[in-house]
Amino acid sequence: MIYQIYPRSFQDTNADGIGDLKGIEQRLDYLSGLGVDAIWISPIYPSPMADFGYDVADYCDVDPRFGGLANFDSLLAHAHARGLKLLLDFVPNHTSDRHPWFVESRASRDNPKRDWYIWRDPAPDGGPPNNWISDFGGSAWQWDEATGQYYYHAFLKEQPDLNWRNPAVQTAMYDVMRFWFDRGVDGLRIDVLWHLVKAADFPDNPPNPAYQPAMGDMHRVLQLHSTDQPEVHEIASDMRGVADRYGASGQGERVLIGEIYLPVDRLLHYYGRERAEVHLPLNFQLIDAPWQARSLATLIADYEAALPPGAWPNWVLGNHDRPRVAAKRGQAQARIAAMLLLTLRGTPTLYYGDELGLSDVAIPPAQIQDPRELREPGLALGRDPVRTPMPWDGSENAGFTTTRPWLPLHADWPVRNVARMAQEPHSILTLYRRLLAARRAHPALAIGDFALLDAAGDVLAYARRHGAERLIVALNLGEHSQRLELPDWAGDCRVLLSTVADAALIEDGAVLLQANEGLILIAD
Ligand code: GLC
Repeated sequence: MIYQIYPRSFQDTNADGIGDLKGIEQRLDYLSGLGVDAIWISPIYPSPMADFGYDVADYCDVDPRFGGLANFDSLLAHAHARGLKLLLDFVPNHTSDRHPWFVESRASRDNPKRDWYIWRDPAPDGGPPNNWISDFGGSAWQWDEATGQYYYHAFLKEQPDLNWRNPAVQTAMYDVMRFWFDRGVDGLRIDVLWHLVKAADFPDNPPNPAYQPAMGDMHRVLQLHSTDQPEVHEIASDMRGVADRYGASGQGERVLIGEIYLPVDRLLHYYGRERAEVHLPLNFQLIDAPWQARSLATLIADYEAALPPGAWPNWVLGNHDRPRVAAKRGQAQARIAAMLLLTLRGTPTLYYGDELGLSDVAIPPAQIQDPRELREPGLALGRDPVRTPMPWDGSENAGFTTTRPWLPLHADWPVRNVARMAQEPHSILTLYRRLLAARRAHPALAIGDFALLDAAGDVLAYARRHGAERLIVALNLGEHSQRLELPDWAGDCRVLLSTVADAALIEDGAVLLQANEGLILIAD
C-alpha cells in the first residue's frame, strides 16, 4: 500500500508554514502505525515552484525549503529502519526554465544543449508552429525573442518539455534515476509518462467534438499527436532496464510507477509487451467513475479482464491534482471507498489526509496559489483545495506548523485531526487502520484471486480467495438497507470488519446491509 505525501503540507518543522523532510521523518511512526508499506513524496527538488516542485531546476538535490540531501538521507534511513519503502517523484517530461540545461539551450541556436528541448520555427504566419494547447490553457508554444524560435511546454511556459528523441537527454535522465537508486530510493513515480514523446512532424491535434468551455482550454483539441506516441514505450522499457539492474545485482528491487491518464486499453500498454515497462501504470478510474454499484462492477471486471498476463493491478482514490474522495462521495461513502480501495486486488495508493476523511477546502481568492486556477479561474480546476495542511492534533494550526500555513487548514480540523480520531473506535482513521491490518493478516486480501459476485441494487460484492481462505466483500453504495444473497460456498460466515458500528445481520444465507454499510465476511 502506497501513501502519497504532498511534502509542502505534511509537517512543518522550521516555522515557515511549509512542510519539510524533517517533518516527514517525525511522522514516520504514524505512517508505520497506520500500516502503509511505502511512501511516495511529491517533488522535493530545487525549484522556483512555478508548479510547486513539478518545475525542477536540479534533479539531484533537495530544495532548501524541504531541507537538504542530508535530511533526505536521514529520512530514508529512518523509513527503512521501520520497514517502510520510500519512493520519489521523477519529473522527466519537462524541467524548470531555470534548469541550467534550458538556460544553455535558449542561449543560442548552436548551443550544444539546443536540441535538448523542443524548438521550432514559427508557422508561415509567424504564429505558433501548430495548434497544441498547454494542459494549463493557452498555446503550448512560447516565443523566444532572442533566438527567434518557439519552444514547446505541455504545462506552464516555465516548464519547457525535454526532447526525449535526443539520446543525450535519455542518458542524462537515466543517470538521474541511478543517482536516487544508488542513494537507496526504492522506486519512482514517473510524472506524465505518456507525454514524453511527441509526433516527430508536429501535426495539428484534431478538434475535440465534445469540448465544452467548462472543461478547460486544453480540451479544445484531442492530444492525439502530442502524447502517447509509440516511441514512448521504448523509453519506458529502457527506464525499466535501469531499475531492474538493481534487483538483478542484489541491491534490492526498485519499482516504477507511471502517472498515465489514458483509456484502459492504452493505459495497459505501459505494463510492456515484448519488453517490460513500468510495474504499475496508475489506474485512476475510481476517482472519476460514477458512484454506482452496477457500473463500478463493470469497470472493475473490465479492468481485471484486460490486464495482460502477470500484470499486477493497482487502484487510486485520490491525488494532489483531483478532488478528494470525501468531497466527491460524502463522508459516509468515503468509508465505503476506503474498504473498496483496500480490498480490491492490487496495490492501493492513498492520498495523505484521505484516511481522515479530509475534504476539499474552499480557498479565499486572495490565497489562491495554484497556477492552474490562476490561469483559468472559476472552472473548479484549481488544485489548492486538495493540497491543504494535514491536521495532526488540536493545538494551534493543527500541529502542522507554528506559523501561518501556506494554504489554510480545513475548518473542521479541531475535530478532524489524527490525535483525536486515533482515539475514536469508529472514526474513518480507525477504519483505515483496521483495513490495513486485515490486509496484512489475510493473504486473500493482499494477494488472493478476485471474482465478482452476483448482486443487485446498490450492492457491489466480490470474493477474494487464497488457498483455503475465502473472503466476501459486500459494499452498499446506497442510502437504503440492502439484502445480498450469499453464494452457497459461503456456508457459515462471520463478519471480519464492518464500516459501521453495529455490523449487518447474516441470516438464511443472506446478509442485510445497512445504508452506507460495507463489510468483509470470512467463510469458516
Ligand atoms: C502531473 C502532476 C501535476 C503537475 C503536472 C506537470 O500531472 O501530477 O501536479 O502539475 O504533472 O508536471
